[in-house]
Amino acid sequence: MLEQLAQDIKAVFAEADRLIAAAKTVDELRQAEGRLTGKQGTLGKLLAAIGKLPADQRSPAGSQINQAKKDIAERFAAARAALAQAADRHAAAVAQAFDPTLPGQVVPRGSVHPVTAVQWEVEDILSRLGFIVAAGPEMETDYYNFEALNIPALHPARDMQDTFWLTNGRLLRTHTSPCQVRAMERLGPPLRVIAPGRCFRYETEDASHANTFFQLEGLMIDREISIANLIAVMKLILNEIFHRDVKIRLRPGFFPFVEPGFELDMSCEICGGTGCPTCKRTGWVEILPCGMVHPNVLRFGRIDPREYTGFAFGLGLTRLAMMKYGVHDIRALNSGDLRAIVRPEQRGGPAIIAKD
Ligand code: FA5
Repeated sequence: MLEQLAQDIKAVFAEADRLIAAAKTVDELRQAEGRLTGKQGTLGKLLAAIGKLPADQRSPAGSQINQAKKDIAERFAAARAALAQAADRHAAAVAQAFDPTLPGQVVPRGSVHPVTAVQWEVEDILSRLGFIVAAGPEMETDYYNFEALNIPALHPARDMQDTFWLTNGRLLRTHTSPCQVRAMERLGPPLRVIAPGRCFRYETEDASHANTFFQLEGLMIDREISIANLIAVMKLILNEIFHRDVKIRLRPGFFPFVEPGFELDMSCEICGGTGCPTCKRTGWVEILPCGMVHPNVLRFGRIDPREYTGFAFGLGLTRLAMMKYGVHDIRALNSGDLRAIVRPEQRGGPAIIAKD
């Protein structure tokens, strides 16, 4: 009987070796080991059959089976360790492998803000006409923001409602027009200057009014500059920005620093001129106020109005960006909302409108 048991145990070892060779994972090894050494496994059944052996053979048979169980457990443990090591080596090799055909990591790219994009476009258009780009301070003096622009002390534009006054007696410029007199002083006539920049107004915000927004000031001074020159340049800007003949309307407008002054409105691009909250249901958007430079302002800029004339304009850059990129609400452009501030050509899709 013991001989038969030795045969059976030998067969179990052979089966163990076969299973170990065939196993591809640590889990498969565990299952195979269970099938051989578990209670219901081959060795378990041999152990259970011991009771049927003659009494003197039971003890040696038990030792043989237990020894075999131990040996088999060791073989499986070694096989598991070898498989785990091989898996680690494979993972390390995969991690190191370089596959040049795989797509590279996508690095998110920033994009130019719509207002900056449209500012650059206007700068481009006007630099072709010989305009140079100037800048002025955002913290301005009363003199440049009002006084030198022929805005007398009691003019409503100085009202606290409109202006952020600073504790140092200066103010946050309410428009880019202070750059006019600064440019006249610095450059002298003849001159062609544009000055883009941020402006601030202490006013309630709505779809088309922000308390912080961008304008682009333009100033051209020479001998015999006329309203015809002014209108031609205004139309050129808009037509080039929109790549077509933009519908505009010209109205008389009062600004103390120009005479005559005009409000130049463009047909609202959001609603196509039918009326919407962005254009306050008028179908028109105030975008390009302009006029012939007032003689007093020329004098403040140390230019003789008997010799020179000029035109000036204050393009609403933020509103222009709204019109160009289909942004309904000006507040979206200051919000960091990517649906509004990533331009359609960069998104590769139509304008996504922020806020209603
Ligand atoms: C002025 O600021 C004048 N300095 C413009 C000017 C310059 C006239 C030179 C004549 C000669 P106005 O307040 O209208 O004007 O503003 C000019 C443009 O800035 C407006 O047409 C509008 O497009 C834009 N704008 C004005 N206020 C706001 C605001 N709160 N939010 C956004 N855009 C504004």
